[in-house]
Amino acid sequence: MTNKYMYFIANWKMNGDKKSVNLINNVVKFSKTKKNKKFKIIYCPPYTLLNLFSNKLKNTKIDLGAQNCHQKEDYGSYTGFISSKMLKNIGAKYIIIGHSENRINGETDFLINQKIKASLKNNLKIIFCIGETLIQRKKNRTNKILSKQIEKGIKGVNKKRNLLIAYEPFWSIGTGLVPKTKDLEKNINFIKDTLKNKYKLKNSKVIYGGSVNPKNVIDLKKIKTLDGFLVGNASLNAKKFIDIIKKTYN
Ligand code: PGA
Repeated sequence: MTNKYMYFIANWKMNGDKKSVNLINNVVKFSKTKKNKKFKIIYCPPYTLLNLFSNKLKNTKIDLGAQNCHQKEDYGSYTGFISSKMLKNIGAKYIIIGHSENRINGETDFLINQKIKASLKNNLKIIFCIGETLIQRKKNRTNKILSKQIEKGIKGVNKKRNLLIAYEPFWSIGTGLVPKTKDLEKNINFIKDTLKNKYKLKNSKVIYGGSVNPKNVIDLKKIKTLDGFLVGNASLNAKKFIDIIKKTYN
């Protein structure tokens, strides 16, 4: 049982068509009936659905987020890309940056840093993803990797308060594998300590992502320092997503 303010972020990745916006009806309803609970739901649909979601989420307490952006902060000749300014304009408040599915496609720490800076300039809040691979974990390099990703990602960033860190081990995303509670707690605390000691960022928010579902959330929520969840697959199903929230508070 927790009474803590928690984030529940739905990352729809490359899923959904224009009818899918109705799949969130029950989540909208649910969010309205739970006035007493302190939590924040954020939907991050693909670019093609941002406009529909933006209209749907008007006058609700649910916020809109995007899944990535170009590193240039306004407009320009970048065929096929979207800037953080355009995302802000359509109603996004948050943006996922540094997701491992982009890192494995060549997104470097340097590029991530540029995207973070551009998005902050456009007043978006950042869901900054970090996490180690299985090989790095086996070689006991997790702390080193997390420190490096944080250092390079937030280099020269001023508005660090607007960062929400999503700890997402590569090997747990979409695999059904979840770190042991003790290990996860250690890593969450390591991230928070690093932000506090190295970057003077007290009270940082760190969420977990990777195969979160209504079953494993029962154990995950026991981690007192955790501030929420980034949910991929299970967020495509409104019932499962609502269950994750309910079970966090029950
Ligand atoms: P998953 O994805 O819940 O499907 O593992 C999480 C994420 O990639 O953010």
